[in-house]
Amino acid sequence: MSRIQVITSSTREGRFSEKVAQWVVEHLEARADFTVDLLDLRDHPLPFFDQPPPAYTLRDYPTEAVGRLGGKLDAADGYVILTAEYNHGYTAVLKNAMDHTFIEWRRKPVAFVGWGNVGGARAIEQLREVCVEFEMAPLRHAVHILPDLMRPAMQADPFDPGVFNTLEAKLTLLSDDLAWWTSALAEARGRTRD
Ligand SMILES: Cc1cc2nc3c(=O)[nH]c(=O)nc-3n(C[C@H](O)[C@H](O)[C@H](O)COP(=O)(O)O)c2cc1C
Repeated sequence: MSRIQVITSSTREGRFSEKVAQWVVEHLEARADFTVDLLDLRDHPLPFFDQPPPAYTLRDYPTEAVGRLGGKLDAADGYVILTAEYNHGYTAVLKNAMDHTFIEWRRKPVAFVGWGNVGGARAIEQLREVCVEFEMAPLRHAVHILPDLMRPAMQADPFDPGVFNTLEAKLTLLSDDLAWWTSALAEARGRTRD
């Protein structure tokens, strides 16, 4: 059983990411091969990063809050980052959280679900580059939620994840790919000590 963490990247009031999180978590939990955790960055408020590089200090955490985030990330075999697009980039909250950590992400796969006018494509492309620096394996299969589905999803009260039905096949491709990489890299990590 692989442990997958679904990470929300936006923390603002009224955020769309909550709806995406509900859909993605429900989809992944329905599989027999994953245990799923939601890592909501709202539960991990952190100051702007002002520490020595975590690439050197590793798990010598400067505060309890960073240690709590690091411990959570450590527990995962793979990640799905849910990304908003702010001014053609991914969110500062997510980058700040990543900069507080380093080793926890290493040699693990990461897949992306984005939303916005181009389905978060620009934010996802930037994240793929950043994730390589963390020695992660960013996956090709992504889900892009466009305004035609964002609008009904935002208007629905109560929200029904069924609004994303047309994207289920894409999310299945992402999940299958994530399952392959998660178990391949977990096995490889188990064979090495560094
Ligand atoms: C500061 C800010 C900048 C934004 N810039 C973009 C953008 O560059 N591209 C885009 O497609 N949408 C952009 N949007 C609209 C977002 O796609 C939309 O607000 C979405 O709901 C954001 O995700 P969130 O609700 O989880 O924060 C922006 C929204 C905000 C708040």
